[in-house]
Amino acid sequence: MTDFASPDARPLLAARGLVKRFGAVVAAEDITIEVPAGQRLSVIGSNGAGKTTFVNMVTGYLRPDEGSILLDGVDISSMGHQQISRMGICRSFQIPQLFLDLTLRENLLVAVSSVTARPSLWREAAQADAAERTENLISRFRMRKDASRPVRELAGGVRKLVDIAMALGRKPRLLLLDEPTSGVSAHEKFDTMEKVMEALRGEAASVIFVEHDMEIVQRFSERVVAFYNGRVIADGSAAAVLESGDVQRYVTGKKIRKEAA
Ligand SMILES: Nc1ncnc2c1ncn2[C@@H]1O[C@H](COP(=O)(O)OP(=O)(O)OP(=O)(O)O)[C@@H](O)[C@H]1O
Ligand SMILES: [Mg+2]
Repeated sequence: MTDFASPDARPLLAARGLVKRFGAVVAAEDITIEVPAGQRLSVIGSNGAGKTTFVNMVTGYLRPDEGSILLDGVDISSMGHQQISRMGICRSFQIPQLFLDLTLRENLLVAVSSVTARPSLWREAAQADAAERTENLISRFRMRKDASRPVRELAGGVRKLVDIAMALGRKPRLLLLDEPTSGVSAHEKFDTMEKVMEALRGEAASVIFVEHDMEIVQRFSERVVAFYNGRVIADGSAAAVLESGDVQRYVTGKKIRKEAA
């Protein structure tokens, strides 16, 4: 197992010994993952392995039964998701959580405005700032042609991008993306991920993304953590993890071809 955290630097995220049970199902069993600032890592695992449960615990949508979660040394284990979002951990969802009757632009404004709350004296300045940041997100995610359309009319891939842009609009230090390409047609997956990565370029945020497509995992992550039955079974470089016998047995079910040099 490769230790990616530098021994001196405090990790941005330190999830230690996380346990989560749902009745007889153990969805997380002693999960320990530390993430340094700026790292891009992917979480892989078969259906029901516990990936979303991990995301839910780190983002405050689920409280762990045991273990601790520290953000830059601050214990956030018992905080709710709104407080955690204000602390700088934001997420997108496996199934996008959007306001279907609002336009793409209005959805982004809601997210961006949630971090620009100011005393009333500054309201106009705050509104102008939120509007500017919204337009900036629309450009970065190359969504301008759909910006004035209600989300209800948009294709699955664009909805995914809106949800991710909303999370980024909350100015995260750590961004968790739960299956950014699920529900996106096979030929659009790479394009969607390229747009996300391009939008993230220059951002200091650490990114954890859950992904089933191993070519995307190989292409876009510097580190991969593999889950099986609520446990971490491999953690290291994409090459090392995808070569691991356990990962091939329990996750990928096949040998992954090496990316052309
Ligand atoms: N709220 C819940 N109540 C009961 N069981 C749950 C709940 N959430 C998750 N589980 C169970 O916990 C286990 C892990 O689920 P989780 O959603 O974390 O898996 P996942 O790795 O995200 O899977 P997928 O790839 O299908 O999204 C599964 O057995 C699931 O049925
Ligand atoms: Mg899931």
